[in-house]
Amino acid sequence: MKKIIFLSILASLITSACSMNKPEKNNEDTYHLEAINDPHSYANINEVRTVHLHLDLDVNFDNKTIYGVARHEISQHEVDYIIFDIKGLEILKTSTGKDKEQLTDYVIGKNQELLGQSLRVAINENTKFVNIYYQTTKKSEALDWLSPELTSGKNHPFLYTQGQAILTRSWIPLQDSPMNRISYSADVMVPKELIALMSASNPLEKNDSGQYHFEMKQKIPSYLIALAVGDMTYIPLGDNCGVYAEKELESACEYEFHDLPKMIKAASSLYGDYKWEQYDIVMLPFSFPFGGMENPRLTFANPTLLTGDRSSTSVIAHELAHSWSGNLVTNSTWDDFWLNEGFTVYFENRIMEELYGKSEADILATIEYQDLVVALEEIENSEHPEDTQLKLQLKDRSPDEGMTDIAYVKGAFFLRTLEKAVSREKLDEFLKAYFNDHSFQSITTEVFVNDLNTKLLEPKSIEFNTEEWIYKQGMPENHVKIESKRLKSMISIAIDANGGMDVTENQLKSKNRNDFTTQEWLAFIRSIKANASHELLSSLDEQFLFSSEANALVKSDWFKLCAKSKYRSVQPEMEAYLIKIGRRWFVEGIYQLLMDSDDAQDHEFALSTFNKAKDGYHFVTRSTVAEIVN
Ligand code: BES
Ligand code: ZN
Repeated sequence: MKKIIFLSILASLITSACSMNKPEKNNEDTYHLEAINDPHSYANINEVRTVHLHLDLDVNFDNKTIYGVARHEISQHEVDYIIFDIKGLEILKTSTGKDKEQLTDYVIGKNQELLGQSLRVAINENTKFVNIYYQTTKKSEALDWLSPELTSGKNHPFLYTQGQAILTRSWIPLQDSPMNRISYSADVMVPKELIALMSASNPLEKNDSGQYHFEMKQKIPSYLIALAVGDMTYIPLGDNCGVYAEKELESACEYEFHDLPKMIKAASSLYGDYKWEQYDIVMLPFSFPFGGMENPRLTFANPTLLTGDRSSTSVIAHELAHSWSGNLVTNSTWDDFWLNEGFTVYFENRIMEELYGKSEADILATIEYQDLVVALEEIENSEHPEDTQLKLQLKDRSPDEGMTDIAYVKGAFFLRTLEKAVSREKLDEFLKAYFNDHSFQSITTEVFVNDLNTKLLEPKSIEFNTEEWIYKQGMPENHVKIESKRLKSMISIAIDANGGMDVTENQLKSKNRNDFTTQEWLAFIRSIKANASHELLSSLDEQFLFSSEANALVKSDWFKLCAKSKYRSVQPEMEAYLIKIGRRWFVEGIYQLLMDSDDAQDHEFALSTFNKAKDGYHFVTRSTVAEIVN
């Protein structure tokens, strides 16, 4: 049944592709728009769509509001209205025209909790420009307004946006679907003490006027439009790369991201030239809900990456890899999210292997595989066991629900397994062509599968269970197995500890935390069984200072072990950690385990901690944790 549906989708895709003029490079990729709809957008992009957006923004920290005009240059059309997505925005007026504007009618649709509202603006066949005057509100979920105490410098406020997956519509009225691509420009006004940065051409330093102009000439999906405003300076790290940070974090950034130029070189030589000219990083405050976010030309990064031992640089390799997988070739809908993340995790690992060798890369992949095993089990036992398929069906659900290790790690293992079947050389050749052929396009899983069949598997007469990997649940039997000797030895120490041995008096005697890498500690801590004895936990903590001094990555797994084992002596440190850090994957697991406890004490601790922490979290983390603790 599924196969029949799939084949008919594919057939209609291919016919629609053939019946239209072949799209040109850097094109307005229309052909796939014919075949599918985006279940997460109201926009009528099959009829009319934005081709360029200009933003006039005034960022006001006093009342935490952005006052804006979104000026949409739209495509040729035959309809008399254009539909945009909005969420938590106040629309003030709409007009058409460029130099001479004329007011035009608009209608706002019913509010839906997930998608927000449609904004339908009247146009006629000659309309080329639609202008929307608006302001953001307290319900603008993309925006994180931070008071000075939540920054490193503690003197100035900070603002950043998080658009992916469908939050851009909460700070800009636009057609918020990754199926459409637009170029954009912006004029942004901010307080004089602060610098404004966007996923576009950026200033090298603060200016006295507080006014900044931005250009993103390449066509990008709406979720990649991003803004950060704070007291930051620029530190170049190479010819075309650098980092923006508050001055307190400058030297840590310089140390941690030292290898960035090498990464860019390695990535380009793998899959083709870097197409975005500049690659910078902006170091955000601790509340940022992700490790990193691949906003083009300006990756947004979380200060938890500053581990002091470069053990989180793979996150930067990951965000850089998105410059190809995700930003150059984009998932058409959020059901195709694995095209962004699975390819990126695979690519990230190839960059890491290029720079640090195979055994380092294998260590990272092994840790990821451990995460995948946990995720598979969780999802298989959830309401939506079909979420273990790579291709998702998220209609009427939040795209966030697709953000699991299935897209990331199963997706990457699909490519690793394919690599083994066809040889690395052939896969690389195919991927390089794939990124080139679909540059600046948004594509579906089916377009990828068609490419894979016609350009790689069929010409070389190679059989591969692609269908099973993408459209079936669970992990196919033929997945490659990755092992790491160094991690194995840590796991065996944990197994001895589980058996009752005092490992601090044996294998770990007279060692200290820095004798092992972050990933070795992760492997060790994860392999200690739940309900570990408090004696073991306290002697480990005393010797290795996990609760007080480990980096955030190690602490996240350590506190999960403590929660699973009801080891409550670490509550003060755990609470401080949960208040300081807003990175969703680093906190949600801890809250979840506390709530899974059969003891009400743990639930109360989770709830009271959340109440203290929540004002400092971005909406993304706050809403996830609220669901867990309530
Ligand atoms: N693009 C994602 C973050 C994201 C995904 C935000 C979906 C909103 C919706 C980013 O590239 C990412 O994957 N970040 C990871 C990094 C990691 C897998 C190396 C993170 O934040 O932990
Ligand atoms: Zn990613």
